[in-house]
Amino acid sequence: MKQKFPMDTFQSLTTPFYYYDVNVLNHTLQALTKEADKYNYHIHYAVKANANPRILSIIREYGLGADCVSGGEIQAALNAGFPADKIVFAGVGKADWEINLGLDHAIFCYNAESVPELEVINELAKSKGKRAQVALRINPEVDANTHHHITTGTKEDKFGINREQLGKVLDKLNTLEAVRLIGIHCHIGSQIPDLKPFQKLCKRMIEIQEQLAERGVKIEHINFGGGLGIDYEHPDQNPIPDFKSYFELFHTFFPAEPYQQIRFEPGRSIVGQCGSLISKVLYVKEGTFKNFVVLDAGFTELIRPALYGAYHQIENLSSDAPEEIYDVVGPICESSDCFAKAIRLNKTKRGDLFALRSAGAYGEVMASQYNCRKLPNAYFSDLL
Ligand code: LLP
Repeated sequence: MKQKFPMDTFQSLTTPFYYYDVNVLNHTLQALTKEADKYNYHIHYAVKANANPRILSIIREYGLGADCVSGGEIQAALNAGFPADKIVFAGVGKADWEINLGLDHAIFCYNAESVPELEVINELAKSKGKRAQVALRINPEVDANTHHHITTGTKEDKFGINREQLGKVLDKLNTLEAVRLIGIHCHIGSQIPDLKPFQKLCKRMIEIQEQLAERGVKIEHINFGGGLGIDYEHPDQNPIPDFKSYFELFHTFFPAEPYQQIRFEPGRSIVGQCGSLISKVLYVKEGTFKNFVVLDAGFTELIRPALYGAYHQIENLSSDAPEEIYDVVGPICESSDCFAKAIRLNKTKRGDLFALRSAGAYGEVMASQYNCRKLPNAYFSDLL
């Protein structure tokens, strides 16, 4: 079904802005929780995908926990009402103040990435007379077949602890009395187009679990990270990701023991399809070989096309005139400020409103003020 946009209201708003369809978000969350609940899976929303306070509070209402990668995200999650005991804290470079913030609020778990990090968590916890729960982030060496900038689980990546180092890490853990090992964590990448790599991941995590069992370590919590992709090509036909097959796969290929809890950290698959970047056409510029649509939004508002060559469906919301071919660019003084090349759009004129679809994840949250621009506003379908 084609998404409807409130055009009359849009005309009165200053562009560019983010528009969130709360219906889409609610339906996605209903589908997610329905499927995850079948297997008693625990979901921690990856705050990095979109930390807008209203988005966070809608997600929190569904009982999800939060996956945070900075002190700022922990604070944002707490402000939105996520209970501290449902917050996990990941990241290869946790600063002392961030670790302390987690300790002060007694967050559920640190996903620890290295021995020096474990030592610092231990030291800081000890000086507060506390014991921090940690999960070891394992580098599972599974290739996610996604864009190399968002692949995180191969041997070359900076993330996680390699399997052959596990023994040494366990030796170290035995000497650290202010941390308690409760689980293992992994994440192989983002926008993963097919489910096969997750199957490999299950196999690998079983091996790791066995490796730990040989050392007498019983793992209660297994966290599989995020990564489920969304359909950027067909946001209207396919607004809700296939959570059913995703969780079914884990249930089939990772048979959990009754004492174990299985966790996930989806980001994009929850918020990706509910958001669009709305922008106004400043100019239609005729070139020698092509025509450019110059929008008032640029990579300052949505950086994914410039940074990853990512595709976002672009629609002219104001025109149904016959289609022509255009490059769609922004106003930033860099040639990488281009959203799409040679795409078909309904004939476009100055003042038309455009939607850049599937921009709910890694859109608003990655906006910058480069060129001294203002950060975009956000509006919600149920509050307009
Ligand atoms: N857990 C960990 C440890 C992660 O590193 C990430 C994403 C997630 C969970 C959530 O993954 P998701 O379910 O959203 O795929 N800015 C890039 C994406 C970067 C993802 C980084 N890590 C983009 O715009 O495509």
